[in-house]
Amino acid sequence: MPQHPSEGTKRERPSAAVARAARALAAAGVEAARAEAELLAAYLLGVPRGRLALADGFTPEQLDRFDALVARRADREPLQHLTGSAAFRHLELAVGPGVFVPRPETELLAGWGVEQGRRWPAPLVVDLCSGSGAIALSVAQELPAARVVAVEGSPAALSWLRRNAASRAAAGDRPVGVVAADVTAPDLLADLAGRVDVLLCNPPYVPAGAVVPPEVDRHDPADAVFGGADGLAVIRPVIARAAVLLRPGGVLGVEHDDTHGTAVPGLLAADGRYEAIADHPDLAGRPRFATASRRADGQHAGPGPAWQTASS
Ligand SMILES: C[S@@+](CC[C@H](N)C(=O)[O-])C[C@H]1O[C@@H](n2cnc3c(N)ncnc32)[C@H](O)[C@@H]1O
Repeated sequence: MPQHPSEGTKRERPSAAVARAARALAAAGVEAARAEAELLAAYLLGVPRGRLALADGFTPEQLDRFDALVARRADREPLQHLTGSAAFRHLELAVGPGVFVPRPETELLAGWGVEQGRRWPAPLVVDLCSGSGAIALSVAQELPAARVVAVEGSPAALSWLRRNAASRAAAGDRPVGVVAADVTAPDLLADLAGRVDVLLCNPPYVPAGAVVPPEVDRHDPADAVFGGADGLAVIRPVIARAAVLLRPGGVLGVEHDDTHGTAVPGLLAADGRYEAIADHPDLAGRPRFATASRRADGQHAGPGPAWQTASS
């Protein structure tokens, strides 16, 4: 009986290969080196990370492929580009060159949006700067009655967004509407003016010139990361436009740089059309996203409106 090429060959135990890879990644400056080595090994062996210890060892061919992936990760290619997917809340999203890799801290903004959406039986939810669709598709999955619209401007990101949206719709989620548009356009989503219940946005917000890790610098699109000289170039017009799109009592959540925990609530207060302005920390305790409610009367609030730091 013919032998499979891997039969009879010596297999390297996952634990040995992972330990070697973790050392290489740590030496290259990868922070969670051990965890990432395990994730790469699990991906290559086609098992969940928690089952790695029980998996068959690497065949020589698998070991070559593993070593090649570890070398690319040591060269600071994002893990998610190597595996082709990013975990976000309850989803696995397809990602790769041309689209921003969704971050764990943004799960908090998406979760806030889901909770807010529960206030309406069938909310209209808009996700501006949608990228891979992380926020929009999470809301669609977790709030089946919601009508969700995702807006993105980059053609490369739009193709990842459409691919993820199609795959979630095929999995049974309510389809998300995808709109190709510049979110800073003054007539953005004109047909939805005064009708949006929840508006969420994770815009590019890093101030130009800030030093970012190699994964971000070389692999996230610059347009997805940098928000002009002060990092607020997209946030300012989004705050203004959201006040037009939201219905009275509708809510806005916008992620921001951790240096903008005062500036973004300040912009919301200065606009005058928002109330209940709050800022929320991420899991590391850094200021991460601001929220506000569209005032019912649309009047300016007057000088000195207070805003507060929320606990989540
Ligand atoms: C920080 S990424 C966020 C992506 C996704 N929402 C997430 O949380 O992973 C910002 C996204 O905004 C898009 N973008 C930047 N400027 C834009 C603009 N003026 N109009 C529309 N999209 C824009 C970028 O292409 C990128 O996909």
